[in-house]
Amino acid sequence: MTTEGTIEKKSQISAIRGMEDILPALARHYQFVEGQARELFDRYGYGEIRTPVLEPTELFARTVGDSSDIVVSKQMYTFTDPGERSNTMRPEGTAGVVRALIESGLLKETSQQKLFYVGPMFRYEKPQKGRQRQFTQIGMELFGVAHAAADAEVITMCYHLLRRVGFNDIVVKLNNLGDPGDRKGFNDRLREAILEVVASARESGKYAEWCEQWQDLAAINPMRVFDTKVEECRPYLSSLPRVVDYVGEEARNHFDVVTALLAQAGVPFEVDRELVRGLDYYTRTVFEIVQTGLGAQNAILGGGRYDNLVEELGGPPTPAVGMAIGVERLIMAMQAQGIKLPPSPPPAFYVLALDDESLPTAYRLAELARSSGQRVAFDCQPKSAKAGLRSANRSKAQIAVIVGADELSRGVAQWKNLESGEQIELLMAEIERNLKEG
Ligand code: HAM
Repeated sequence: MTTEGTIEKKSQISAIRGMEDILPALARHYQFVEGQARELFDRYGYGEIRTPVLEPTELFARTVGDSSDIVVSKQMYTFTDPGERSNTMRPEGTAGVVRALIESGLLKETSQQKLFYVGPMFRYEKPQKGRQRQFTQIGMELFGVAHAAADAEVITMCYHLLRRVGFNDIVVKLNNLGDPGDRKGFNDRLREAILEVVASARESGKYAEWCEQWQDLAAINPMRVFDTKVEECRPYLSSLPRVVDYVGEEARNHFDVVTALLAQAGVPFEVDRELVRGLDYYTRTVFEIVQTGLGAQNAILGGGRYDNLVEELGGPPTPAVGMAIGVERLIMAMQAQGIKLPPSPPPAFYVLALDDESLPTAYRLAELARSSGQRVAFDCQPKSAKAGLRSANRSKAQIAVIVGADELSRGVAQWKNLESGEQIELLMAEIERNLKEG
């Protein structure tokens, strides 16, 4: 306020970089996708779990892994709270769900748990198309089943969810990362092979920036070289060993059952021997679904098996498999592919008060229709007939009910069909009956 009592013009405040507002037209997409997901989860017997956005930092330090993208690229929103505890805004949902299950004792009670969640996740990444610092995941996790049918069920559900929201050409990319013992031998061999490639690039005068990245990855997470976005180094990938050649018999058989079950369910898939994931906790099956129209960030969902995570967090030995969809990316892909939402139905009635005197009656009529289950547009202020009818037409309602002081004094209201333009005067009792019946 100024000394004259007027309000000074203030500067505007913008949203934080990488965090977006979801305005009503876009929110309809989120509601649609979420609604489809909830129906599907219900059909398969998955119950909802809601965990806090904020968790102790140690939870993610122990789960996502020292060599994960999240830890290596310092993507965590971490801060010390007033009680001097280190907290982190969750970068993903799996860790919190596992913590909650162990803490609540639910894992001990029954042999399996099928859960889903929907909510915001936070990663301090460099924002670009399809990559935000706050984004929404719809995820699901199946605990307590070591059988390959669990992997197949989660993947099959991903496929059906994408079909339900309107995608046609869906191919699930799958890979088998083996068990931790298999991976150890593979990682050692891969590390050596990467360093050999870098040394020969140096000798032949082709040493470039990607060589440095490869050297760094060899030290922290050699498998991530397969995820390179640098075209120049792609030809060298073919000379590197593949994880599949190091996978033990049990994990190989497991993967064969997963693919056989997917074939049974008619889910189109493709084994991609270069598929790796940005999080460290996976064992055996990993998968992703990519879509066009998203630029470099083309994975709309990803997941896999993680049989050791529950124990890592102090729980009982519990096999598990799960996935998460990035809702923003899913919606972008829907828009890029011209997938339309089902139209939202217009209101049945538009109720118009022409003056202050008739507003209480108009208000009562609108409420009467709404409590009978009708969708009603009401502007919460009197309007002239001209402005009111303009607004009524914009609302796309079929019928306008118009009340002014004159109608009020005669116990009637106007009933106007907005499609045909026909207008009749009806007794208030008849109007009330029509509004209730719709
Ligand atoms: P994730 O691959 O890190 O897996 O993330 C899953 C999906 O979240 C991605 O495919 C992508 O669509 C979306 N996503 C990730 N980061 C961003 C971002 N910065 N901006 C927009 N969208 C993003 C997980 O999070 C695992 N918790 C999935 C899982 C569940 N595995 C087992 N259970």
